[in-house]
Amino acid sequence: MKIATILGTRPEIIKMAPIIDEISKRDINQVVLHTGQHYDDEMSDTFFKDLEIPTPDYNIHVGSGTHGKQTGLMMEGIEEILLDEKPDIVLVQGDTNAVLAGALVASKLHIAVGHVESGLRSFDMTMPEEINRRVADVCSVMYFIPTEESAINLLAEGFSHKNLFITGNTVVDACFRHLELAEKRGFENESLKSLDIENMYNILTLTMHRAENVDVKERVIDIIDALKELDDMNIIFPIHPRTKNTLESFGLFDELNNLEHVHVIKPLGYLDFLLLTSKSTLILTDSGGLQEEAITLNVPALTLRYNTERPETVTAGGNILVGTNKEAILENARRILSDKEFEDRMKNAPNPYGQGNAAKLTVDAIERYYDEGLLDIKAPEDIMTSFTRKMAEIKEDITVNEFEEKENALIHMVFDGEEMIFPNDELNLNGMMISYDKRE
Ligand code: UD1
Ligand code: UDP
Repeated sequence: MKIATILGTRPEIIKMAPIIDEISKRDINQVVLHTGQHYDDEMSDTFFKDLEIPTPDYNIHVGSGTHGKQTGLMMEGIEEILLDEKPDIVLVQGDTNAVLAGALVASKLHIAVGHVESGLRSFDMTMPEEINRRVADVCSVMYFIPTEESAINLLAEGFSHKNLFITGNTVVDACFRHLELAEKRGFENESLKSLDIENMYNILTLTMHRAENVDVKERVIDIIDALKELDDMNIIFPIHPRTKNTLESFGLFDELNNLEHVHVIKPLGYLDFLLLTSKSTLILTDSGGLQEEAITLNVPALTLRYNTERPETVTAGGNILVGTNKEAILENARRILSDKEFEDRMKNAPNPYGQGNAAKLTVDAIERYYDEGLLDIKAPEDIMTSFTRKMAEIKEDITVNEFEEKENALIHMVFDGEEMIFPNDELNLNGMMISYDKRE
């Protein structure tokens, strides 16, 4: 079997590293393809070193550009490589333009697509990421899903539960694997060393790069106004290149950089950043990955967004959405600092993203699909009969698997009272309401 992995940005490298590592331990060929969307050393190369994975076999060097241009160049480059390499499955991760390009190209070449971190939904179609993740899901054959909540999003859109694998998020694998190493090694970044972070208290780690925040001057001003008043905290801000550019173009960079309690530094490597996060009192961020890492590392998070495709972190109690609202940022940050019970509740929120074995579960599932011939994409040979969508209340002991075999049906949704639950094969349906497609 041959697996091709496509990645292009910092979070994709971090979250695919455990899978690349897992594949390399097995008797599987793999090719790794970098789109080159992130190209600065501190946004790309450094992560291959920190996460101890080989440099990619290919780099398409698409660089920066508009969505259309960037995605188009990626598609052209990815197509050429996939035609040559002929993998059995292409893995894409998350919601960047690489995911959109990779999933579209592979599916049109009739190569199975596996979407890692599938099923997330912000329900905000102004976000490029929401468009990317939805399109990738339409093109995929295997879905590696972090939580049951995300699996239910896919069920509600009509995807078959048969191809959904709830694995947890590989970010937990990466965190657990590297935190001990980071702790043993200590800070290596010169800026962090000179700030003497080891002996610093009340650390607020800030990251922001979302287009809908940093490209909008009013939002940036609101955030900076809040930061100015948080002068009892040590704010460490490893700045994303996009954010540095927009802050400079708005003429706001120097104002922020000159604040004594705000330390604007270059983006950090993974180990330094992980250690910094673990030592932080509070995370203020609009990053997707960081919302997950904060709850994994028991650090309270305030998210600079009005919606999140990671609602589990909020319902678990570890994350609060504050938008870019100055008062909401200040009120919650001050409460975390001053109200021990509130802080502890946030810190002790249960991690919804699994045990740190997502990579193993993912590669196990791929091997099984390969062995059973389920990665071969073929046009249907049977003359299609019709499907009827039906609902029923089940009043007998029967599992999902048994019901589907008996009725020649595919169950879509299962409701236990008002709660929608995931229809795994062994689930006893007695007392539940189901909707299903029946093949006539
Ligand atoms: C991209 C992803 C976003 C993800 C983020 C992770 C899309 C649509 N967006 O956003 O989902 O959360 O990566 O960080 O795929 N730049 C550099 N050096 C680099 C890379 C970028 O200077 O190595 C600058 C360029 O000015 C570029 C800007 O950052 O125009 C934005 O980069 P881009 O890759 O388009 O989007 P991100 O904001 O990084
Ligand atoms: N990260 C890092 N160095 C930094 C900032 C972030 O290593 O200076 C890591 C962080 O640990 C997380 C990932 O980058 O795993 C998140 O990437 P980003 O916020 O760029 O993208 P998103 O997750 O929002 O797509």
